Amino acid sequence: MKKYNLFTILLCCNFFTLSPLILSAQDARIVKRVDSVLRLMTLKEKIGQLNQYTGTEVTGPASDRKNTLLNDIRSGMVGSMLNVKGVKDTREIQAVALQSRLKIPLLFSLDVIHGYKTVFPVPLAEAASWNMDLIRQSAHISAKEASASGIHWTFAPMVDIARDPRWGRVMEGAGEDTYLGAQIAKARVYGFQGDRLGGIDGIMACAKHFAAYGAAFAGRDYNPVDMSEQMLHEVYLPPFKAAADAGVATFMNSFNTLNGVPATASVYLQRDILKGKWNYKGFVVSDWGSIREMIPWGYAGNLNEAAEFAMNAGSDMDMESSAYKQELEALIKAGKVKLSLLDDAVKRILYKKIELGLFDDPYKFSNVEREKQAMNDPQHALIARNVAEQSIILLKNEQHVLPIKGNQKIALIGPLVKAKADLASTWTVYADTASMTSVYEGLKHKFRNKSSISYAKGCDLNGNTTAGFEEAIQIAMASDLVIMVLGEAGDMSGEAKSRSNINLPGQQEALFDVVKATGKQVVVVVMGGRPLIFNHIAEKADAIIYAFWLGAEAGNALANVFSGEYNPSGKLPITFPRSVGQIPLFYNYLNTGRPVGNPKEIRYRSAYIDSPNSPQYAFGYGLSYTTFSYSDLKLSTKTLKKGEPLRVSIKLTNTGDVKGEEVVQLYLQDKVASLARPVKELKDFRKLMLNPGESQELTFTIGTDKLAFYKSGAGWITEPGVFKLMIGGSSDQTKLETEFTLQ
Ligand code: BGC
Repeated sequence: MKKYNLFTILLCCNFFTLSPLILSAQDARIVKRVDSVLRLMTLKEKIGQLNQYTGTEVTGPASDRKNTLLNDIRSGMVGSMLNVKGVKDTREIQAVALQSRLKIPLLFSLDVIHGYKTVFPVPLAEAASWNMDLIRQSAHISAKEASASGIHWTFAPMVDIARDPRWGRVMEGAGEDTYLGAQIAKARVYGFQGDRLGGIDGIMACAKHFAAYGAAFAGRDYNPVDMSEQMLHEVYLPPFKAAADAGVATFMNSFNTLNGVPATASVYLQRDILKGKWNYKGFVVSDWGSIREMIPWGYAGNLNEAAEFAMNAGSDMDMESSAYKQELEALIKAGKVKLSLLDDAVKRILYKKIELGLFDDPYKFSNVEREKQAMNDPQHALIARNVAEQSIILLKNEQHVLPIKGNQKIALIGPLVKAKADLASTWTVYADTASMTSVYEGLKHKFRNKSSISYAKGCDLNGNTTAGFEEAIQIAMASDLVIMVLGEAGDMSGEAKSRSNINLPGQQEALFDVVKATGKQVVVVVMGGRPLIFNHIAEKADAIIYAFWLGAEAGNALANVFSGEYNPSGKLPITFPRSVGQIPLFYNYLNTGRPVGNPKEIRYRSAYIDSPNSPQYAFGYGLSYTTFSYSDLKLSTKTLKKGEPLRVSIKLTNTGDVKGEEVVQLYLQDKVASLARPVKELKDFRKLMLNPGESQELTFTIGTDKLAFYKSGAGWITEPGVFKLMIGGSSDQTKLETEFTLQ
């Protein structure tokens, strides 16, 4: 059975045959060069460009696989390698590619997710900073280090919206919100790629996983996805579109099925939307083995069919399935895959190689001097510290227990106090975990002249033993203030790390109870790659800091927050549920026909009988050591014409006695529409610093596009009617509200 529509395929594969007149001069030059290379290529060599293999063996000791790979590279049968890194190895393997007949250089790719040598906070943590400049800088430094070391291409950013904290990969993305996610997608693409692809400090970015991978059933990795067209277009696709608009060089498709079709074989996603509607010019790489995985999905009967479906659907490069290598030649000869489609895929890949400058200098990015310099630049650690500081979220601070005042005896308790490798979590490359700063080291150093610091581990991250409790109680009793550092292990999130229970593992909550029972003030730092559930601590702790995984500078950044040198400004990029039973839980839900009004009257309402509907901590929430007041909301008009932008201004005042940053969030609700709309949706935000007593007026411009929603059959539409506008420092505590009408 044909699972694609030939007409759509032909319509969308002709980017490279567009008249050069409508391309820029540089584009036209590259297209010309691509064509001249393509003319020289045999069928086998064309297919060769589409193959990508992992290089963990190609640089290792002699083996059959190594020999096969080297032979394939030498005969032009490989277009790209992943996991070959460092100047020495990339030069060595590139030299083999240059022995091939046409000397087409390889693309070296790698998962540079949150740093190369310098370990930055994981992406979900960085998203909590709501600081696009910093996020861009973090990606740019990663690119600078990676590019000097021979890497051309990172498999980042992951722009999957994730509304399910059980899914281990929430740590790799920007959280649950589409608007925030789209802004972060752009920032990361600009950061990785630099001003222009081909610059020495930039590498190709890759928007992944296309699409809807974050919506896997039950938060279990690799699970199917089933969703409406409206949900796909409104919630899951916009960050990909933003990445495409920002010029992302590549896309990666995903492991999941979408409404029964593996994303890798989806003509709808890759040809109709990406290469068709969005006119995307880069290339699409499959996810690792995702072409072959169509067989166990029961979608393809064998590798031959899998290759046919993937290729016809627009998956240009085959990562580690060997499907194109084994099957494509026969498929072309049998007419099951058109030669024009193969040519289109090859051209897209060659285009990027030429744009990067590899045809002029295949070793352009492998430079010993630059590698040494980039990997040892002290500036990078300072920026990593700043990013880490801004990624910290203050969830609770009773009686202003933080920042720490005067000279105090501090007891540091918990299995993550001295953690180092955990702080890097997963997806690191050259992380020197020994040199990362633990909370223990950070605090010891910061408070060296002021406070005495004692330490007890208390318990392991996991496991049943409570043998360390007594020591923890003793040091707590002898202290003025207890700081506990708890959480999940660094490797409990990431790919294939779904959890059905997202409580703190092991005996950690019991440890908190016995320590709290000493009557001391207890500050808890929680670390993890996802929102964790710690209701008891939420209720009883005096202060709580959520730190996700902050990378190499975690200890220093947290010490600066404890000392008050840095006033926390992070806001949650994802909802924290009270229980797994509430999942999926997100702020932009639909009201239902029976919303809970008075919480005492929950009979026949859309409510749980054993839990509030509300989350433990809402999207956008986060405290500061200071307070802010919102006032003077003004609109340029109360009746807006279609196409006319709405200007919204407010005054923000720092009403506390220390300087601090606030993330001002603007939400809209389309009150009555031809499809039920969410209770609120983030449409803009601004992060700004104010001195004590200082006020600033902020203006937002709301274009009609922000009033639109997606309707099946009609696409993005706006409807006349009343909109509610809400502004505040958290999705659940908006401070200013008004309404306006779209005519
Ligand atoms: C992951 C991708 C990653 C690729 C290469 C896959 O298992 O899903 O996100 O880029 O491996 O390492």
